[in-house]
Amino acid sequence: MPDVRSAAGLEVLVVGSGGREHALALALARDPGVAGVHSAPGNPGTAQVGRNYPVAVADPEAVATLAADLGVDLVVIGPEASLVAGAADAVRGVGIACFGPSRPAAELEGSKAFAKAVMVAAGVPTAAARVCESAEQVAAALDEFGSPYVVKNDGLAGGKGVVVTTDRQAALDHASSCARVVIEEYLDGPEVSLFAVTDGRTVVPWQPAQDFKRAYDDDAGPNTGGMGAYTPLPWVPDDLVAEVQRTVLQPTVEEMARRGTPFSGLLYTGLALTRAGIRVVEFNARFGDPETQPLLARLRTPLGGLLYAAATGTLADEPPLEWDPGAAVAVVLAAEDYPALPVTGQMITGLGTGGADGSVVVHAGTARDQRGHLISAGGRVLTVVGTGAELAAARRTAYARIARIELAGSFYRTDIAKAAVEQRAGER
Ligand code: AMP
Ligand code: GLY
Repeated sequence: MPDVRSAAGLEVLVVGSGGREHALALALARDPGVAGVHSAPGNPGTAQVGRNYPVAVADPEAVATLAADLGVDLVVIGPEASLVAGAADAVRGVGIACFGPSRPAAELEGSKAFAKAVMVAAGVPTAAARVCESAEQVAAALDEFGSPYVVKNDGLAGGKGVVVTTDRQAALDHASSCARVVIEEYLDGPEVSLFAVTDGRTVVPWQPAQDFKRAYDDDAGPNTGGMGAYTPLPWVPDDLVAEVQRTVLQPTVEEMARRGTPFSGLLYTGLALTRAGIRVVEFNARFGDPETQPLLARLRTPLGGLLYAAATGTLADEPPLEWDPGAAVAVVLAAEDYPALPVTGQMITGLGTGGADGSVVVHAGTARDQRGHLISAGGRVLTVVGTGAELAAARRTAYARIARIELAGSFYRTDIAKAAVEQRAGER
């Protein structure tokens, strides 16, 4: 695609309405090469960065029509549902550069069975797995791998499709609720999220982050979309990123190109660092939430230029990424009863203006009521990001700020980045 950037700078449309999208909008607005940031549908946070436009994110034609009407230079797509529906293809179809994989490439996230097949073909280390379509196959696979059982819904399930349990009946029950299910070997070891920006050939890995998926402290409670994250990870081996680049990212991107469905956009690898080595737990086809929030707090490379280069196939010409040497810690404020049936419509107060302490409030499930007051509107309501020279300082800043926010019934984990600060994060 030719470089059609307007002289005044890039006009960018961010699709989605979560914390990830607000963080993307904030980082794009900091890029001196970006002239304007628009969001669709956005949230009250993105409304402070630029204008919000209503759109159904899973309707590719609606997304493409909006992008064309706004005349933007670049569309950045956040949600997997949008990508799996083909929004990136539709945007490119109207001649606009798009950061995000095509519909077939997004199957790396959309189907666990497809992702396994690509990993096997590319020789990427991952858990051994069986794809099952009957109760007999499920029972046989559970016996083959033994407890703890790992049972994954094949399709998209909003971060709630995976059950890890020592209870065989619970494993059978989850499997029977899925049309197609992947049963796999249990991976024992700390988890790391590694993002890579790619144009389908060149792969640019980011610094690693760690996400906290369980609802409550000490990894108790149900799986969630993610309750907090931090970066950098002082406890991972120095060569981790280089090894993942060589054994996971590059082979996967090459295999996708070989299949005629090149993957461009953000390749998110969830890794387990097991005693036997690095294993891929999952791929996602988009920025992770909440890892994006602390990572973007540290990325110094202008984001708009980077994503535009990925979208137009020119990543090889970009300079190496630059990172702030400090740390960032993100803590999610969740609504009462998240993730089961989050309570919404409650008043949020105490946000303050912040900033002076290096903290940022990133909106996700928030809305304005008729009088303009901020209210809760989703399970993960907002993320507070603290920065500092060290993880300990970033953590203190994030927790001091979130403690001042009031939302009836809400809760947050108090142990985000705690083990890393206490130098026991890599333990298992
Ligand atoms: P996924 O949606 O595949 O990322 O799975 C969600 C979460 O389930 C992961 O972040 C892990 O904590 C856990 N999980 C998934 N697969 C495995 C596995 N093979 N072994 C252990 N835990 C797993
Ligand atoms: N933080 C996990 C995810 O975005 O899927």
